[in-house]
Amino acid sequence: MKPERCFRFPFSIFHFQLYTMHSFSALSAIFETGFNTRHFPGHTATLYDPAQYILQLGGKRVRPVAVLMGNELFDEIHPDAYHVATAIELFHNFTLIHDDIMDKAPVRRGLPTVHTKFGNSTALLAGDVMFVKCYEYLNKLKVTSFHKILQLFNTTAAQVCEGQQLDMDFEKTDTVSFDEYVNMITLKTSVLLAASLQLGAILGGTGEGNQQHIYEFGKNLGIAFQVQDDYLDAFGDPATFGKQVGGDIIANKKTFLMIHALEVADATSKEALQQLMIENPADKVEKVLQVFRDCNVNGWANELKEKYLQTALQHLEDIAVVSKRKEPLKELALYLIQRNR
Ligand code: IPE
Ligand code: IPE
Ligand code: MG
Ligand code: MG
Ligand code: MG
Repeated sequence: MKPERCFRFPFSIFHFQLYTMHSFSALSAIFETGFNTRHFPGHTATLYDPAQYILQLGGKRVRPVAVLMGNELFDEIHPDAYHVATAIELFHNFTLIHDDIMDKAPVRRGLPTVHTKFGNSTALLAGDVMFVKCYEYLNKLKVTSFHKILQLFNTTAAQVCEGQQLDMDFEKTDTVSFDEYVNMITLKTSVLLAASLQLGAILGGTGEGNQQHIYEFGKNLGIAFQVQDDYLDAFGDPATFGKQVGGDIIANKKTFLMIHALEVADATSKEALQQLMIENPADKVEKVLQVFRDCNVNGWANELKEKYLQTALQHLEDIAVVSKRKEPLKELALYLIQRNR
């Protein structure tokens, strides 16, 4: 699972290191090799098989790879980084299981969601036990920064819950401001990406200043990532998206698409949107999409992603390491905002 060791100049007083940097796809393959195992006991199979089920559906593995990349920006990958990366991916999958119950989502990663296949009660427990598993992996850490790592993990986990609650509260709120939306997606999505990168940076042994910049890089990138997620939920290609297209519209989610449309649409379209959200007719998705198109949400999506990407890149720029080392993170940033799944 470990990438090849770095080359060191043993006699250099500068402790000059030339360890190999890895691309997102290389680190993803390394992570997958270790992660692709059963994480749960055989008994009680009615609980653990559903938990294992979602892990085997794949996923982009963005967050665990972000841990490894955050580490590798500063030093050779620390063995503990694999435990942290595993804990983070398990935490992410736990949130997906519960999120799909909350969002009544039928499909995830191209296959039935855990609650659709095994029922709500089992899905809740499968998520709970997966969260426990996170701590088992974190408990394997040997580094002295263990308490700092645990604190960051716990703070982030609580923030994700806060974001999820706001996301649901907003389903029932007529007007949500753009700032409220950004705060909500920051909590439910972007802090986890930010924390993943910072956890890696802690393991890479860098100081507080660099840690804050990589966190802010991840936070701004995470906002752009959720903007793309919301965009794909409305306009994604069902063949590649892996989730139900239109799910956010059905659930009256206050995505940036809806907020923007409610802001710029003419009075008639605005009234129509509000009625569609109240009445939930069979052709709701189609009709809402048409208003979205009329409001040029596409242009707005690109503007938003670009704005947060630029802020993210500025923080990456400010990290005190040679710029060549930042290339894989730049590549990751561009991939995340252009992805189609
Ligand atoms: C989905 O995350 C949940 C969000 C925060 C938008 P991903 O798009 O990373 O899902 P997987 O892990 O690749 O399936
Ligand atoms: C999910 O946001 C965020 C978390 C899972 C915490 P979404 O509800 O938009 O994620 P998807 O679209 O279902 O993956
Ligand atoms: Mg969802
Ligand atoms: Mg959700
Ligand atoms: Mg979504």
